Amino acid sequence: MEWPLLYLAIFLLSSSSHLLVCASDDRLSPGESISLNETLVSDDGAFALGFFPLGNSPANLYLAIRYNNIAQKAIVWVANREKPINVPLATLTISNDSNLLLIDAKRSIFWSSNVKNAGSSKNSSPIAVLLNSGNLVLREGSGAILWQSFDHPTDTVLLGMKFKSSYKTYEASKLTSWKDPQDPSSGNFSFCAGPNTSLQLFTWQGSEPYWRDGVWNGRLYSAGQVTNSSYVTYEFIIATADDEIEVTFRLSDGSPNARIKLDHSGQIQFLGWDYSLNNWTIARAEPSSTCDEYGHCGPFGYCDRTESVPTCKCMKGFEPKFQSDWNRGNFSGGCVRRTALKCGSRDVFSIMESMKLPDRFLFLKNKTVGECKAECIANCSCNAYAYANWSMGTGNISRCLVWMGELIDAGMFGNEGENLYLRLDGSDLGPIRVLKQNLATINQFENFG
Ligand SMILES: *[C@@H]1O[C@H](CO)[C@@H](O)[C@H](O)[C@H]1NC(C)=O
Ligand SMILES: *[C@@H]1O[C@H](CO)[C@@H](O)[C@H](O)[C@H]1NC(C)=O
Ligand SMILES: *[C@@H]1O[C@H](CO)[C@@H](O)[C@H](O)[C@H]1NC(C)=O
Ligand SMILES: *[C@@H]1O[C@H](CO)[C@@H](O)[C@H](O)[C@H]1NC(C)=O
Ligand SMILES: *[C@@H]1O[C@H](CO)[C@@H](O)[C@H](O)[C@H]1NC(C)=O
Ligand SMILES: *[C@@H]1O[C@H](CO)[C@@H](O)[C@H](O)[C@H]1NC(C)=O
Ligand SMILES: *[C@@H]1O[C@H](CO)[C@@H](O)[C@H](O)[C@H]1NC(C)=O
Ligand SMILES: *[C@@H]1O[C@H](CO)[C@@H](O)[C@H](O)[C@H]1NC(C)=O
Ligand SMILES: *[C@@H]1O[C@H](CO)[C@@H](O)[C@H](O)[C@H]1NC(C)=O
Ligand SMILES: *[C@@H]1O[C@H](CO)[C@@H](O)[C@H](O)[C@H]1NC(C)=O
Ligand SMILES: *[C@@H]1O[C@H](CO)[C@@H](O)[C@H](O)[C@H]1NC(C)=O
Repeated sequence: MEWPLLYLAIFLLSSSSHLLVCASDDRLSPGESISLNETLVSDDGAFALGFFPLGNSPANLYLAIRYNNIAQKAIVWVANREKPINVPLATLTISNDSNLLLIDAKRSIFWSSNVKNAGSSKNSSPIAVLLNSGNLVLREGSGAILWQSFDHPTDTVLLGMKFKSSYKTYEASKLTSWKDPQDPSSGNFSFCAGPNTSLQLFTWQGSEPYWRDGVWNGRLYSAGQVTNSSYVTYEFIIATADDEIEVTFRLSDGSPNARIKLDHSGQIQFLGWDYSLNNWTIARAEPSSTCDEYGHCGPFGYCDRTESVPTCKCMKGFEPKFQSDWNRGNFSGGCVRRTALKCGSRDVFSIMESMKLPDRFLFLKNKTVGECKAECIANCSCNAYAYANWSMGTGNISRCLVWMGELIDAGMFGNEGENLYLRLDGSDLGPIRVLKQNLATINQFENFG
């Protein structure tokens, strides 16, 4: 089986005009070097590559890309994150084998772009350019890209960046948090695709899931206001074809500087530059409460985000497994059925609306909604199903999900989300029994037949 890649791309759709400040020094050629007191500045002046200090007593120097023409010059990429420069002399050059090389006076290496067989610089005449997007690109004279910082993100995704993640290996590219705000070395959190499916993204704490995004359903989701002055919204779009998935972020018109960062605290933050506050503001951050953390509400529990304070609740027809623990705010035991399934004609599907679908589903391809439901009915261990379909490119995609075991890490949203069809014994419908299909529909229950 071929394992798909997950593409996360950010595009700036806005046609906001940039003030063109022609900085001559946006590039590095063979034979040239940048030393500790020098920078490359992108053509429009938005980004700078240089040696910037972090921490104190004494400060460490890092070769990094940061914003250049705003007050809070946030760092968006770090080359030598694990090997700070603590010597008085260091330079960035292009090596004879067409690699970017960060070395000290004794030629010991702090960092290298490490492209194998990049070729001889004499033949390929490579140059490194810091683009207006904040991407540092090493390319041959012919234009072929040998290496680019956008393929090797640290903790930040910028507009125009393609973020690829393989769900099998967790590798390819992933975001890794800084250790703390003054130390860019790798922290405990990472952000990439999860195991078994390319339909969702995770934040990991070590090897444990810390937060999970919603399951992709073909529709645009997750818009949030960046600043109160420019009313910018983020749109988070994924498109998938067979085993490949493509994620796109875009911004509405009038976009400010924007970035997505995996914070050292483990939060994924959507940040925008607010010109009136003259500072970065967080448009959206996930997880936004303890309740949103992975699996916090236990099996068959869900985090109800429609409450003013997000709260764990049991799914319809379920009750806390350990009531006293639950009452004390320990939700790890989750919930259990009030009435065990008998797996017969008394079973119904209860519709839960606006849900963040739970984890640990089976993804069945090429099903109609009727076939999807039938798959769940046919197997007594099926607890729920959810269905979505959409067209993409030249094909139609159907996404039938069935849950054969526990439902974990579900949530309820106010407006986004989708229907979860939860299998229950008919007696759990409460006082109004499902006698007729019409009545069942009115009461938001779906009959089995
Ligand atoms: C930068 O430092 C190098 C070596 O320390 C020195 O030769 C050079 O003149 C400095 N350049 C600037 C612009 O200060
Ligand atoms: C490149 O090769 C030349 C000789 O071919 C050598 O003198 C020079 O030090 C080399 N430069 C680097 C950066 O390795
Ligand atoms: C990372 O996790 C380990 C073990 O859970 C912990 O000891 C350490 O303090 C954590 N580091 C940071 C920077 O949070
Ligand atoms: C919007 O930002 C301004 C600062 O530019 C601040 O004074 C104001 O309180 C903010 N308004 C809201 C609704 O947050
Ligand atoms: C910018 O925002 C951060 C985080 O909200 C805050 O800690 C900092 O003080 C602000 N800086 C300025 C100059 O307002
Ligand atoms: C939380 O509840 C579970 C069972 O519901 C129990 O096993 C565990 O010890 C409890 N944890 C704490 C910290 O009380
Ligand atoms: C992923 O698949 C493996 C093997 O099929 C299974 O053991 C594991 O529980 C699955 N993980 C999740 C999160 O579904
Ligand atoms: C999808 O299912 C239909 C009918 O079940 C079948 O004819 C078709 O070949 C299937 N397509 C794929 C790509 O599996
Ligand atoms: C989605 O599924 C419904 C019901 O199975 C079907 O009528 C519709 O044509 C499908 N749409 C697409 C785009 O596949
Ligand atoms: C029901 O699903 C379980 C888990 O996927 C599987 O092991 C079992 O074989 C299925 N039973 C039937 C009758 O398909
Ligand atoms: C996709 O579904 C639509 C209906 O939603 C249908 O008109 C179209 O023919 C389908 N395309 C393919 C390639 O199956």
